[in-house]
Amino acid sequence: MKTAQKFVCQSCQAPHPKWAGQCSQCRAWNSLEAMSQAPVSKVQASPPQRLSDVNVSKWPRMPTALGEFDRVLGGGLVPGAVVLLGGDPGVGKSTLLLQALGQLSQKHRILYVTGEESLEQVAARAQRLNVPLEDTWVMAETDCQAILAEARVHRTEIMVLDSVQTLGISEVAGAPGSVSQVRAVTHACVQFAKQHNTAIFLVGHVTKDGALAGPRMLEHMVDTVLYFEGEKDRTYRMVRAVKNRFGAVNEMGVFAMLDRGLKPVSHPSALFLSHTEQPMPGRVIMATWEGTRPLLVEVQALVDDSQGSQPRRVMVGLESQRVAMLLAVLSRHVGLSTAGQDVFINVVGGLRVLEPAADLAILAAVMSSVRNQALNASTVVFGEVGLGGELRPVPSGQARLAAAVQHGLKHAWIPAANQPKPKDLRAEGLSGCQCHAFHTVDTLLNQLFA
Ligand code: TYD
Ligand code: MG
Repeated sequence: MKTAQKFVCQSCQAPHPKWAGQCSQCRAWNSLEAMSQAPVSKVQASPPQRLSDVNVSKWPRMPTALGEFDRVLGGGLVPGAVVLLGGDPGVGKSTLLLQALGQLSQKHRILYVTGEESLEQVAARAQRLNVPLEDTWVMAETDCQAILAEARVHRTEIMVLDSVQTLGISEVAGAPGSVSQVRAVTHACVQFAKQHNTAIFLVGHVTKDGALAGPRMLEHMVDTVLYFEGEKDRTYRMVRAVKNRFGAVNEMGVFAMLDRGLKPVSHPSALFLSHTEQPMPGRVIMATWEGTRPLLVEVQALVDDSQGSQPRRVMVGLESQRVAMLLAVLSRHVGLSTAGQDVFINVVGGLRVLEPAADLAILAAVMSSVRNQALNASTVVFGEVGLGGELRPVPSGQARLAAAVQHGLKHAWIPAANQPKPKDLRAEGLSGCQCHAFHTVDTLLNQLFA
């Protein structure tokens, strides 16, 4: 047996074969930390099998009764799965898992381990959330091995570790929360989960600037990675699956944070519209796609003469690189320059929209603000915009249109390739929808703001 020593940068996670005062990757000083690797040993490999002999009886699922949470998990929790739930402090991770465990405790042996709060705090919250207190086992502990030993004795089926950054293993160097500890704790949990068929939720805090990069580097070690998003001062929160060995990725569940905890929102398609019928310049409704369903989302733009020497580009809920590219397309192909102007764009409701299908709506919102010309309130816009000013089709165009029609939107401005065939217009209940389909962004926008 031999043990290798490696060093890892605490700020960028770059591996280094030997210690140095400065990280050669990100140039941070004094950021390298020793990481002891698992001893290399010779073990007997399990013999190869024919795939046809492997038993693939469908994974049993343990539903949490929180419909939106089950949706992101791929239809319920799978025994032996390790699920990482990441998110900003205060977004509601502990609340969500306590509620889910409360439901699961009726059928399974569960354990909620807190390394951050006192048992009194957990109990007070559980009471408020109406969690069945009798069957919910809790433990305040930060020693990972002590926790796993307890779980073995109790034959725990489902466990929450809140949070992975507070736990430690005594033999491993570094304080709890350091790269080496977080990695070792996760490794121990994954091994335990597979050996004992225990499902484990690991809670991981991610700060906005990503300073505490812990959970990011764990993504490849666990089965499922969920991110809990949403602003603390808003009611709606979204859980998104960014990796799932047992379900679809990019699936999203929507919750409302109420005074009695999180409530699933099962039909969120019109949640992200500001509920005003009043036409307003800069306001455009787009149809985005989240996981397996369409979502109508409002985007607002404000373009104004810049007061400073450096015009401001502020994007909330959008990728600023992509918007910079779109503004260049607008200038070159539509002849609408935003040079010397501040551009603010906001996606309503704290949602993040990263799909290219939002391109056209973003440009329509910018143009609407520049021209100070409001769109008809029953207009929906979607489509991808290429660098040559061409409009590209987006996936699931018909389902997006159907969602828009369902919410009373009647005018769709879309890429030519997304134009439904006449027979689909009748079959899919889209007959109330008037489609304006174009090949290029300049012809579409010039018609829209004629
Ligand atoms: P919490 O689950 O503690 O967040 P995290 O574990 O991600 O840090 O959620 C804390 C926030 O949720 C806090 O701002 C208060 C709010 N909250 C409610 O609005 N209603 C409730 O019933 C509960 C339990 C929390
Ligand atoms: Mg918490």
